[in-house]
Amino acid sequence: MSDQIRKRKVDHLSICLKKDVECKNITTGLEYVYIVHNALPEIDLDDVNTSSDFFGFKLSFPLLFDSITGGSKESKQVNQTLAEVAKEKGLGMFLGSVRPALEDPNTFDSYTIARDTAPDIFIGLNIGAPQLSRGFDLDRLKSLLNDMKANALSIHLNPLQESVQVEGEPFFRSVLEKIRFLVKNLNIPIIVKEVGCGISREVATKLELAGVSAINVAGLGGTNWAIVESIRSRMLGDNQKAELGDIFSSWGIPTSISIIECAQNVKIPIIASGGIRNGLDMFKSMVLGAKYCSIALPVLRASKSIQELSLLVDKFLIEFKTAMFLSGCKSVNELKSVRYYLGPQLKGLLTR
Ligand SMILES: Cc1cc2nc3c(=O)[nH]c(=O)nc-3n(C[C@H](O)[C@H](O)[C@H](O)COP(=O)(O)O)c2cc1C
Repeated sequence: MSDQIRKRKVDHLSICLKKDVECKNITTGLEYVYIVHNALPEIDLDDVNTSSDFFGFKLSFPLLFDSITGGSKESKQVNQTLAEVAKEKGLGMFLGSVRPALEDPNTFDSYTIARDTAPDIFIGLNIGAPQLSRGFDLDRLKSLLNDMKANALSIHLNPLQESVQVEGEPFFRSVLEKIRFLVKNLNIPIIVKEVGCGISREVATKLELAGVSAINVAGLGGTNWAIVESIRSRMLGDNQKAELGDIFSSWGIPTSISIIECAQNVKIPIIASGGIRNGLDMFKSMVLGAKYCSIALPVLRASKSIQELSLLVDKFLIEFKTAMFLSGCKSVNELKSVRYYLGPQLKGLLTR
């Protein structure tokens, strides 16, 4: 069992590195968000302070590396690079699903490497809804959280991915009840995320009522798990699953809409993700109501070296800071009052 999971994680890394796995016929919708330019910002670019607080951790700007990997030799290297750059650049990070470590303690070091590399940054551990649904050992989970000195647990909801995956586990009964249970029994923040299909206002409201501390929308428009699993299914000779993935490759809530739906309906912080590809996407997401942003695919692709990933972060920062300057914002708290309008494509989608 654990060998199969490890092999799948390696396949995911290699497919996401080498193939075109992003949405093709649908976008985040952020290109239809028009920010009202401020020609008289009355500040210097240097007056802009991009820093932000994330569950007690100071971020140089509101960006996190999202859950990517764990459980293999390859993932150990990726997690080390991510932690090194997160430390150097004042960011936080989430580890990939902890499932391999729950099944095989020999994979621990592919996760703990992050904390060993960066003792003081925010690090979140990740687990999937199907593992919660089918029952889990709370003490094991607590001890993993403890060993990894995790600052939060993020839970991924991925019903489409599980439906298309060859060995998928589309088990989602009682997940909300398990989330409530974890909120009561763990003394760290619980963050719930999708993996590329977005969170609706109905789901956001249930999660807030369950006591979740933040929602990561992981909307449609970026990495597409129907496409990833379809590619993998075809590689493994399962054409039926592959076609299912193709049919559902535009399924989900575009990131911009998911942010608006969640931010307008719940008070807990919203993390924008799913196709955030530059600092302007970050800025627009935050003007729509998100408090933080996270990215996965661009981080994985830049993780070949510390230098490459550092350059990517610098690029996001200067883009984000420039947008703040052009809107006259001195601090990230001011983003929520920046005026914007929505193009007809987005307005149309939002009327239903
Ligand atoms: C190679 C890879 C592995 C991933 N593994 C996980 C995972 O273990 N758990 C999880 O919650 N999300 C996982 N994700 C999803 C991301 O955290 C994120 O939600 C999604 O990719 C959308 O962001 P993006 O468009 O910036 O990639 C993974 C993403 C990638 C690219």
